[in-house]
Amino acid sequence: MSTDHRIAMEQPGLFVTGGAGFIGSNFVRMAVERGYNVMVFDALTYAGNMENLAGLEERIRFIRGDICDAASVRNALREAEPHAVVHFAAESHVDRSILGPKIFTETNVLGTHVLLEECRQAGIERFIHISTDEVYGSLGNTGLFTEESPLNPTSPYAASKAASDLVVQSYAKTYDFPAIILRCSNNYGPFQFPEKLIPLMIIKASNDEELPVYGDGQNVRDWIFVGDYGSAIFQAIEHGIPGEVYNVGSNNEWKNIDIVRLILEEMHKPFSLVTFVKDRPAHDRRYAIDSSKIQRDLGWRAETSFEKGIRQTIEWYMTHRQWWKNIMTGEYLEYYQKNYEPKR
Ligand code: NAD
Ligand code: DAU
Repeated sequence: MSTDHRIAMEQPGLFVTGGAGFIGSNFVRMAVERGYNVMVFDALTYAGNMENLAGLEERIRFIRGDICDAASVRNALREAEPHAVVHFAAESHVDRSILGPKIFTETNVLGTHVLLEECRQAGIERFIHISTDEVYGSLGNTGLFTEESPLNPTSPYAASKAASDLVVQSYAKTYDFPAIILRCSNNYGPFQFPEKLIPLMIIKASNDEELPVYGDGQNVRDWIFVGDYGSAIFQAIEHGIPGEVYNVGSNNEWKNIDIVRLILEEMHKPFSLVTFVKDRPAHDRRYAIDSSKIQRDLGWRAETSFEKGIRQTIEWYMTHRQWWKNIMTGEYLEYYQKNYEPKR
């Protein structure tokens, strides 16, 4: 393991964009426990939720701001004076990118560019760009995505993430800007917005409602517990080599229909709740990550078994009903209707 690139961190300060979202808020909780001094910068879009940071109010600083707004980013960076920036903020849902792609380019590409430029001007020592395995496109039945796999995104969401990766890489190459890119597979766990497969299916099953499975249900995703991703991000902050890309995954491939069956079994609900609906357009067939580089170079590996993680996640949603009931109103219901009505 190389420690040559460690950044000095006597009072480690982190500036976390998108820290009120799913992965961001789980990460912020871990960062506080590890003694980092955290400032969250988040626009609080439909996906951002202060309840995700409940209990941390006295332990972090929070600024409501948009990464597309250079002045607001600049002022927040001046106040925070962070050692490292961890950039989660994004529009993150593929189906929403199909319904309305423009905001994805605005936030994920232009917003990332604005943030990068402000970080460069501020002399930030480490920038962790939270990318995704979706930039690689779709796999056939065999093979894994490596860091050398070509970028071949399919959805407007994935394209915007791939574009942002290229902007980040251009900064690393041109300005020697100390950026590291992480490309992770599908996360699951507490605080995930109920538009994504696992929380949606848990909530639908709990309500004895139909579980809408796209197409034939045979698409494969590679699932990682959100806490395991958090520990990979800390390894990247503390030991990662600037300019490098690291894939992150936990060798845990599941067909969608098998995940849905498992959730129903765990919740003692009948398989008859499953309804096959019209497929997502250009639906990527399979994602699978080769994470040997981060394992070898940074000494990281996932520790949570899927059996344990999925039980913990179901339990969390069952004991936090008010959290999702507060979300599943207004804008959420409109989105749900817009996405699922045409699929019937
Ligand atoms: P999320 O949708 O739950 O949260 C996104 C957060 O970003 C929200 O808090 C939102 O308010 C904030 N945000 C959006 N636009 C903003 C803007 N213009 N300025 C400031 N804040 C803004 O997303 P997530 O699932 O936690 O994903 C976080 C990151 O991880 C994203 O970059 C996503 O592409 C990437 N990622 C997600 C997964 C996954 O499985 N969820 C896997 C790999 C990578
Ligand atoms: O791979 C990483 C990506 O994982 C992240 O970059 C994205 O931010 C994140 O949203 C996720 O993208 P997916 O499209 O893979 O996740 P989603 O939960 O939307 O869907 C998972 C699979 O389940 C996918 O094959 C589509 C299917 N699905 C999803 C929903 C919401 C259904 O069959 N029915 C559904 O209702």
